[in-house]
Amino acid sequence: MLLWSVWGVLLLNTAGASDEDDVRAGCSTAVNDLVYIVDGSWSVGYTDFDTAKEWLINITSQFDISPHYTQVGVVQYSDTPRLEIPLGKHQQGAELIQAIQSIDYLGGNTQTGRAIKFVVDHVFSSTERGSRVKNRIAVVVTDGKSQDDVVDASMEARAQGITVFAVGVGSEITTSELVSIANKPSSTYVLYAEDYTTIDRIGDSMEQKLCEESVCPTRIPVASRDEKGFELMVGLNIQKKAKKVSGSLVSETAYTLTVGTDIAETTREIFPEGLPPSYVFIATLRLTGSSSRLTYDLWRVVSKDKEIQVAVTLSGKDKSVTFTTTCVTEKEQRVIFKTGFQTLFDGKWHQLKLLVRPRHVIGFLDDHQIQEISLKPVVPIYINGKTQVAKKTGTDTTVPLEIQKLRLYCDPHQSERETACEIYSVVRRPVTLT
Ligand SMILES: *[C@@H]1O[C@H](CO)[C@@H](O)[C@H](O)[C@H]1NC(C)=O
Repeated sequence: MLLWSVWGVLLLNTAGASDEDDVRAGCSTAVNDLVYIVDGSWSVGYTDFDTAKEWLINITSQFDISPHYTQVGVVQYSDTPRLEIPLGKHQQGAELIQAIQSIDYLGGNTQTGRAIKFVVDHVFSSTERGSRVKNRIAVVVTDGKSQDDVVDASMEARAQGITVFAVGVGSEITTSELVSIANKPSSTYVLYAEDYTTIDRIGDSMEQKLCEESVCPTRIPVASRDEKGFELMVGLNIQKKAKKVSGSLVSETAYTLTVGTDIAETTREIFPEGLPPSYVFIATLRLTGSSSRLTYDLWRVVSKDKEIQVAVTLSGKDKSVTFTTTCVTEKEQRVIFKTGFQTLFDGKWHQLKLLVRPRHVIGFLDDHQIQEISLKPVVPIYINGKTQVAKKTGTDTTVPLEIQKLRLYCDPHQSERETACEIYSVVRRPVTLT
């Protein structure tokens, strides 16, 4: 709740600014219609129903509830659905929390299909915001097998562009049913909790997923699956602006930036909804000559006033990597990986990876974890400036380097899946049998 109030203050301040340009973007400012469909059948019970309500309040706290940003509706269902909170009825977070808290437990059977159909037909369509809404998301929380069919209603939801998450609580749930309710892939859209007393454990994960849905519209095709994220080699036109060179392996292509290459785009185009609370930054690169000696921002997002919103800074002099991000209490916060990254500057190909989480950042070099460093809570970024690559700190001068991959994945678990297999030493690392 603390974060919410801090963001609330920031948003109030910025909303007062005459220039609409100056608005920060992130989950809090996502324009979502979000509808919770909550199981109120007898199997849930009074205590667990209260916990479910608290959980919904928790996962809502990252959004700014307002007519401009996220609007929430709640439907409770058993035999029939009951519209508890019409979409957009409460235009402020505090009011919405109170309304969710005062929902009375219904009791009855479990007709999940009927509830989904009701929401598709009557709740989402009731919004007056029309096409201004960027994401329409439904979250179905259920503890048991539905007594009616869920397939048709769920297909109708998808046909209307509504993204559906299914949250199964307890051992009575049927996996196949949750899979039919939710969007694909199920690994993203189906969540499980052992019971209501442990549902808080999937709160962070639900928050992250809701946020990814709101701020990560683009997909990076990776092997067999589509990952949400930002392919910066394409987004920043690196492949068009820089000269092709051979990459880390015969099969890989890289690009060489010279002093005359200006890699910069307006942030509004690259990150139109800001950054998610967790993400994985990955760069595969080769630092030779001045790029192994100078200090520069490999990647940075700056505001119109040139304030750093986020940056990954390499120092060839200190052989260090610095991560800069926003901060609730100060203008910015910087954390320095002082040791462990020496070989990044040795003139060979390497993969630098930063796993950014709401309260810490972990640095990796060629799949080896270097260090985990704590972060203070961040605030959404200003998207009114530029996103740049390989710029000398504090200037717009390009530092020449070779780059093969530059990506941001929204799902933090991609950190484990994205290995540095394009790095020769990693491919050739002997397998040790234990
Ligand atoms: C809601 O959030 C509070 C504060 O983080 C936490 O203590 C509580 O366990 C959460 N409850 C649920 C049901 O997620």
